[in-house]
Amino acid sequence: MTDPNAPTPESNRHFYDRIAGAYDLIADANERTAREAGVRALAPAPGEAVLELGFGTGNEVLDLAGLVGPGGKVAGIDVSPGMLAVANRKLAASPAKAPVDLRVGDARDYLRATDRRFDVIVSDLFVPWESETGSLYTVEHYRTARRRLNADGLFCQWLPVYQLGPEELHLIADSFAAVFPDVSLWWGHLDPGHPIIALIGSNGPLAADSGAVDRRLQRLWSIVPLDREIRTARDVSDLYLGHWRPRQPDRLNTDEHPRVEFLTPISQADRTLLYGEALRRYSDNVLARLPDRPPLSGPVDDAEGRRSRQRHALLGR
Ligand SMILES: C[S@@+](CC[C@H](N)C(=O)[O-])C[C@H]1O[C@@H](n2cnc3c(N)ncnc32)[C@H](O)[C@@H]1O
Repeated sequence: MTDPNAPTPESNRHFYDRIAGAYDLIADANERTAREAGVRALAPAPGEAVLELGFGTGNEVLDLAGLVGPGGKVAGIDVSPGMLAVANRKLAASPAKAPVDLRVGDARDYLRATDRRFDVIVSDLFVPWESETGSLYTVEHYRTARRRLNADGLFCQWLPVYQLGPEELHLIADSFAAVFPDVSLWWGHLDPGHPIIALIGSNGPLAADSGAVDRRLQRLWSIVPLDREIRTARDVSDLYLGHWRPRQPDRLNTDEHPRVEFLTPISQADRTLLYGEALRRYSDNVLARLPDRPPLSGPVDDAEGRRSRQRHALLGR
């Protein structure tokens, strides 16, 4: 008799199981800069509880466990047993500093079923045109995630901008902003070929004193030596892109209307996905005009300098 829960050859789980070993090499080479930028920008504190949706080969889980320390907790959910096996091998080779609870399953089901609360939830890059992952960009999913956050918790949604057209990026950001009162955008990869942006959602405005952020980064650096590029509050501030202003709040990405899943293949066929020249235009016409409410106070932030440094990194001019 066949197992009704066994992955079909065309399912995501089957695909990610197949690539898990090789993905480890790709993830470390391709994602390291963005991953480390994200971990720094979120700066989890000792004792906090963190959840990663789609932990993959487990690199970020290990970094996060180092930062929250023995008093904190790290949980992760990934649909692929193959990815869990790779992550477990890493944990065995280099035991985590915090209790780590990694499980196999669908991220949405996990959030719906758990009664745990988290200080930070990180949602990894999910391929937007796959039915089993596209639903991780819906209003319903974001509502569930918000209920699982502590009052001052943060939800970080990584966006694979190079797999989205402008309309899909707006649909996701509008859906996110329909749930989280404060939505800021941060660069992960300022790379015209593989741009990555984080949406950070919270219940209230993010506000941090740059002196306190400097001190916290120094402490984080001494615990987990991550990238060399983000060492000061100024470096974090330079990743801030702007705040989201909802555009079409009555046209969202929902379970009933999974617009992102259906529109991304069209953008791909029309060659309007946001990388290269399309990204350059979008950056000038939309991203550079986002409302500017920098979360870091103090002398570190000069909006003009920040935008011109971002432009230079992205466009080379
Ligand atoms: C971009 S990869 C993560 C890479 C990870 N940062 C690393 O260092 O390996 C996305 C992950 O999401 C997982 N995934 C896809 N759909 C999922 C779902 N519905 N629920 C949970 N995980 C899912 C995949 O198995 C894959 O490991």
